[in-house]
Amino acid sequence: MNIKGMLATKPIAEYQKEASDKSLKRALGTPALIAFGIGGIIGTGIFVLTGLAAAQHAGPAIVISFVIAGIGCMFAGLCYSEFAAMVPVAGSAYAYSYATLGEFVAWFVGWNLILEYMMAASTVAVGWSRYFIKLLDYYGINFIPPWLSSAPLAADGAGYSVHATGAIVNLPAIAIVIAVTALCYKGIKESAVVNTFIVMIKVTIVLAVIVFGAKFVNPSNWVPYIPENTGKFGEFGWTGIIQASGIIFFAYIGFDGVSTVAQEAKNPQRGIPIGMLGSLAICTVLYILMSSVMTGLVPFKLLNDAAPVAVALESHPQLNWLTSWVIWGALFGLTSVIITMIIPQARIWLTMSHDGLLPKLFGAVHPKFRTPHIATLITGVLAMTFAGLLPIGILGELVSIGTLVAFIVVCLGVLVLRHTRPDLPRPFRVKWVWFTSLMGVAFCSVMAGFLPGATWIRLLLWSAIGIAVYLAYGYKNSRLRRTAGAAN
Ligand code: ALA
Repeated sequence: MNIKGMLATKPIAEYQKEASDKSLKRALGTPALIAFGIGGIIGTGIFVLTGLAAAQHAGPAIVISFVIAGIGCMFAGLCYSEFAAMVPVAGSAYAYSYATLGEFVAWFVGWNLILEYMMAASTVAVGWSRYFIKLLDYYGINFIPPWLSSAPLAADGAGYSVHATGAIVNLPAIAIVIAVTALCYKGIKESAVVNTFIVMIKVTIVLAVIVFGAKFVNPSNWVPYIPENTGKFGEFGWTGIIQASGIIFFAYIGFDGVSTVAQEAKNPQRGIPIGMLGSLAICTVLYILMSSVMTGLVPFKLLNDAAPVAVALESHPQLNWLTSWVIWGALFGLTSVIITMIIPQARIWLTMSHDGLLPKLFGAVHPKFRTPHIATLITGVLAMTFAGLLPIGILGELVSIGTLVAFIVVCLGVLVLRHTRPDLPRPFRVKWVWFTSLMGVAFCSVMAGFLPGATWIRLLLWSAIGIAVYLAYGYKNSRLRRTAGAAN
């Protein structure tokens, strides 16, 4: 095994050449990029996890958890932006790692991004299925039995083992993945139009909850703001706040997806940083306001429900009219998250395939639709399978840990490249780079460190499978090392 070859970095110039490739369609302007970010961010996290994290870990101080996770993401987002403006290619964190930390790390990051995007598409499809059933219930329709709308497997206790639930398959989750895959196959423009439309609906509904809910906030629900720790690590107090920030980190995932459509952006050097940081800033403000209102409407313990926004609204009869809108908003909102997860996954595979680390098939571009259609189909089929079979808890935590690993590597990569290639033109330059990147690493490491032990074990297993796949395929077929070998 050639360890030096595995550490070889891909020249930035090659990526810059690829960035000018015209096979994908440049259809996304800055507003569409911001909408792409918001489309990926607002979803299961705010509509489902906020309540659980507040009720079990942080109380009203869930707002502080949102601030902590938001700051961590802002540091990572700044580092992403420096890379994305410099090498606006579809591979995102995978490509940035290839250019700075070498092939093996790049493969590792690419492999973890599968956890982020493909597994997130599955996780959110499971959340979508719940809200879909809730909507049918709301209108008194009841034709899908539970054994056809939930996962056949569930995690036990701490998550180290699973058991059968008696259900067969989660059909609504499969159906939504099929519909979204078809849209993403058809075209980036069509996907962006649908996404922007949905984003307008979901932001309006989030704003409605904030504005109308604010009138009924009872400040006594915020007292004590930081409930005293119960004596158990992570149950309220400051450890609870930090644990909650690891849980609701999921709510922020998605802004980085903007960097994967760099080759489809009209002006990537400007549009990608604005799209990423703009969507992140907008959603951070919305999350802080929304979680303040939710914990102000009801005592936080009552939010321990899979649909906490509905619980908060239903506690005030004057707000009942908003409940059905929230269900519709969540359903639409989750659809756009699935769109903005399937698109990045396909683009990352496209780039990995061009580098020879995945078979050529993954890099095929449809001659008419100009989308990576085969990679899109493969993403859809796998996401559909996981969504149909696995429970949301296991999926969600894997998504968070995979994403945090990618964020950490990107933060380190920015620092490395400043030292190895200080000469490169940087259209977007991170200020106080040491501070920003090391703070990004610190915040993301703490959030990852607070995720459950079982999730870490699954990450190790997933990484071991990834290394085996790399040695069996990528190591032999890497374009970079084959050309280097030919040149010697
Ligand atoms: N941030 C996305 C969500 O919360 C993944 O659903």
